[in-house]
Amino acid sequence: MAPENSLMDKIVSLAKRRGFVFQSSEIYGGLNGCWDYGPLGVELLKNVKDEWWKAMTFREDIEGIDASILMHPRVWEASGHVENFTDPMVDCRECKARFRADQIEESMCGNPAYRGRKAAKCQAEGKFTEARQFNLMFRTFIGPVEDSGAVVYLRPETAQGIYVNFLNVQSASRQKVPFGIAQIGKAFRNEINTKNFLFRTREFEQMEMQYFVKPGTDERYFEEWRSRRMQWYLDLGLTGGKLQWHRHEEGKLAHYAKDAYDIEYQFPFGWGEIEGVHNRTDYDLSRHEQYSGKAMKYFDEASKEKFTPYIIETSAGASRAFMAFLVDAYREEQAPTADGKMEVRTVLRLHPRLAPVKAAVFPLVNRDGMPEIGRRIEAAIRPHFRVFYDESGAVGRRYRRQDEVGTPYCFTVDSQTLEDQTVTVRERDSMKQERLGIDAVISYLADRLGRV
Ligand code: GAP
Repeated sequence: MAPENSLMDKIVSLAKRRGFVFQSSEIYGGLNGCWDYGPLGVELLKNVKDEWWKAMTFREDIEGIDASILMHPRVWEASGHVENFTDPMVDCRECKARFRADQIEESMCGNPAYRGRKAAKCQAEGKFTEARQFNLMFRTFIGPVEDSGAVVYLRPETAQGIYVNFLNVQSASRQKVPFGIAQIGKAFRNEINTKNFLFRTREFEQMEMQYFVKPGTDERYFEEWRSRRMQWYLDLGLTGGKLQWHRHEEGKLAHYAKDAYDIEYQFPFGWGEIEGVHNRTDYDLSRHEQYSGKAMKYFDEASKEKFTPYIIETSAGASRAFMAFLVDAYREEQAPTADGKMEVRTVLRLHPRLAPVKAAVFPLVNRDGMPEIGRRIEAAIRPHFRVFYDESGAVGRRYRRQDEVGTPYCFTVDSQTLEDQTVTVRERDSMKQERLGIDAVISYLADRLGRV
């Protein structure tokens, strides 16, 4: 097995074993391209979204919204999705596997009898059909009658819910251009091939912000948002050397874009896009004006000018960011055991603000009143931070269990606690321990996690 595959396999296995991510409908054999977030995964995902939400809406110039997933079908005609949101698809006449025509080079043959064979070889042997365009939007029907007049789509991006609300938000919040609207929500794409764990799924979450600017100022804001978005990943601990920009070539720009860059992360299976930053010009608002017949222009009080704003979009996948943070944090390191030998410890070096559990509390032994003191400390932490209490097994094993899920701080009650009301605090990455008064535990965490 290639080392990059075995690393990915280890991460997927840890994700399942420790309750980060489960296959959807697993007891029925799973549903391709759909995943469920378990108790720790939902916390990590929520922390990623919370950090994004704070970075966006804790600003004077950005408002949040939460638009509905089902929208008027004309929205998707105006946006260009009905016409353009397609992928070219080919089928193998022999094994019936289906491929994206533009991804054959990186795909493997679908026939288990030809294990390790490249799909390109089958193509060269003439086994594939001609490419057909396949629309990625999921269609469903509003109401009881399944006719063409009742067709609606599950949104393939959250952005359109922002565009159609541009003037509602602007007038309700009395914002002036330039300003932005942020939204986090589910999106659905009927991907031809799902792959690489959470990377390409059929249901996922996006974190999108659309920044409305005066035409002519767009290039400046485009650069500003590019640098802010890259910094966001760095500030949350992603390894700088594993992040890069990929600029879309002129001929490959989306139909709405004047300029576009992807932030790519180096996953074990290769570089993959985690976020797009796009200069969408006035395409979206102009199209909605044209298709709805409603004016989508902005009136600038100061200059008395009326114009259609340009849009700078930052569009991140919450599940791709989740996977990048998980993969980046995963380490296998040599660590000393209690009796001075060395062993491998698996640790998630997640940024403390992203870690699903912030603190663990252990009594060293289950007697002499240590569990009672431990429970009191846990109860004091619980209203402020997610905390885990554990009294089972050797303390070294308890540390390892917390390392594996990224808990940054472990507090241990020991015999000295009984004398001087101090505990040890052990930091996950350095494994260094220091003593701390019990009454200082909350402020210790607050200083490092930034909130109480
Ligand atoms: N509104 C623009 C837009 O949706 P996109 O590049 O198609 O642009 C933006 O998608 C982000 O959404 C991507 O960078 C990726 O993080 C995430 N994304 C797109 N398709 C996805 C899929 N099938 N599974 C998981 N995440 C996906």
